[in-house]
Amino acid sequence: MAYLTVERATKQFTEAFRALDGVSITVERGEFFTLLGPSGCGKTTLLRAIAGFNDLTSGDITLAGADLRKIAPYQRDIGMVFQDYAVFPHLSVFDNVAFGLKPRNVPHAERKTRVDEALAAVRLTALSDRMPAAMSGGQQQRIGIARAMVIKPRLLLMDEPLSNLDAKLRIELREEIRDIQKQIDIAAIYVTHDQEEALAISDRICVMNGGHIEQVGSPQDIYGDPQTLFVGTFVGTLNKLTKGNGLERMLQALDLSGVGAETWAIRPERLLLSADCATGGAVLNGIVSKYTYLGREAHLQLETEIGDLVIHISNPGRGAGRNLGEQVAVTVPRDDLMAFDAAGKRMSRGG
Ligand SMILES: Nc1ncnc2c1ncn2[C@@H]1O[C@H](COP(=O)(O)OP(=O)(O)OP(=O)(O)O)[C@@H](O)[C@H]1O
Ligand SMILES: [Mg+2]
Repeated sequence: MAYLTVERATKQFTEAFRALDGVSITVERGEFFTLLGPSGCGKTTLLRAIAGFNDLTSGDITLAGADLRKIAPYQRDIGMVFQDYAVFPHLSVFDNVAFGLKPRNVPHAERKTRVDEALAAVRLTALSDRMPAAMSGGQQQRIGIARAMVIKPRLLLMDEPLSNLDAKLRIELREEIRDIQKQIDIAAIYVTHDQEEALAISDRICVMNGGHIEQVGSPQDIYGDPQTLFVGTFVGTLNKLTKGNGLERMLQALDLSGVGAETWAIRPERLLLSADCATGGAVLNGIVSKYTYLGREAHLQLETEIGDLVIHISNPGRGAGRNLGEQVAVTVPRDDLMAFDAAGKRMSRGG
């Protein structure tokens, strides 16, 4: 049995509205599990139900075999890190971290050891006497993480802990969080609506949409093998091919017209900017309508007979710029085309 299980969780806020609609997940010991989805999809509601801040309308939650819904929130041994750092301004860094230990009757001598350990893990040892007001956002969030860890929780929950930080710090701190989690080997559930952050930090990602789960899988599964059109478009970019004679001709040439898909799509980095029949793809003509140079990559937009396509080119050389209106050849590799049915579910394409 999994370490944490949530089964058929529903949360009905009003008669007409369900924030969670039959959500089931499992999280293993030591696993970094991420809830990813747009604003309002139910991420915080699920996290709060696990922490015990709000109860489910129906469903089961068990942690190490025990029924969590029967245990009071403060007895669940769950650490939580919030988006707004939630530090106490009148307490030093040390006392902020020690705060969580007071109601737990930890002996005084052990208290110091535990706080020192937690501060070392988040690299705040040198600042333990400081007041939070004299610290940066990133440092304040480290206090939040240390405070959640110091109780040696059985489960660590983090609700968008990095979203108030600037881009560079977010990347730094997300790697630290991942390192700390692996080091203390704790089960963690992390909430974000940032797809890149989710890909970078997670063992598994659960993509949510409108109170239900779209897909659970490794970052590679979620990005490389999206099972719904929603997942494919929310995580990364998808070119949806425009229906019409051009598309019909291409599918026929590739022996794919029998699939009967409602939507055909392909990732921008799978398209090739050359006539490369060897890949077993279709070669089309395109007119350059936009060229965006981004350093590590360039984004090229083309008008073609299967609609506007975006191509991502990695390592664009200095001479690789394209002029608007220029004609280019683009290859659509057969294996990289994804088919979706009318409900947005991924379809098998057969051979
Ligand atoms: N106490 C409440 N009463 C009524 N509706 C609520 C309540 N709390 C949340 N909701 C609604 O439930 C839905 C899910 O909210 P939730 O906070 O779980 O979303 P979220 O995925 O965390 O979004 P965000 O990324 O914006 O934080 C939203 O439509 C929200 O308005
Ligand atoms: Mg939220």
